[in-house]
Amino acid sequence: MTAISEFQKVVHENKFRTLIDREQIQNRIQILGKEITRDYMGKEPILIGVLNGCFIFFADLVRSVECDLEIDFIKLSSYGDEKVSSGKVEVLKDINADLGGRHVLIVEDIVDTGLSINFLKQKLMKLKPASLKIVSLLLKKETAKVDFDIDYVGFEISNEFVVGYGLDHKQVLRNLPAVYVMD
Ligand code: IMP
Ligand code: MG
Repeated sequence: MTAISEFQKVVHENKFRTLIDREQIQNRIQILGKEITRDYMGKEPILIGVLNGCFIFFADLVRSVECDLEIDFIKLSSYGDEKVSSGKVEVLKDINADLGGRHVLIVEDIVDTGLSINFLKQKLMKLKPASLKIVSLLLKKETAKVDFDIDYVGFEISNEFVVGYGLDHKQVLRNLPAVYVMD
């Protein structure tokens, strides 16, 4: 049995409940891509993906944006292997691009407590970008403590732990095709 059909089996055994299916994700990304294209046309933005969770969303999102753009990645850690944030954010891999005077768009998989995005926004603002905005596939509005807007949100979800489409539990399940709630 291949890895993916093993996953499907687990999904069908109801260990996971589909929260957002593949089609809903792709439809929403097309809309986000149009908005980002409209807002950044002629500005050649740099999209900064927050690893690891962003990688699938990032790849789909950039292909839905129809203007020139650059990419870079940063890797943060705050969760370890737990389902709740440790409260500390560490940079595990930093960006290489020079963001001074550039239009920067941070690409997140999910904003949960808001700890990571608060940290990242403060860090990147010090590099004096021309503008700094955030796109997140998912937003847990009940738990997010942010005193700024998440500029582009794919889906607002309730306070449940989700996996798949890039999101992990203990570093696995990222390759599940859609977003599932783990019970
Ligand atoms: P925050 O700092 O609490 O907003 O969340 C930081 C990171 O934790 C996110 O970018 C995700 O990588 C991860 N995370 C938060 N909630 C979940 C979840 O429900 N499933 C999997 N990863 C999550
Ligand atoms: Mg993340």
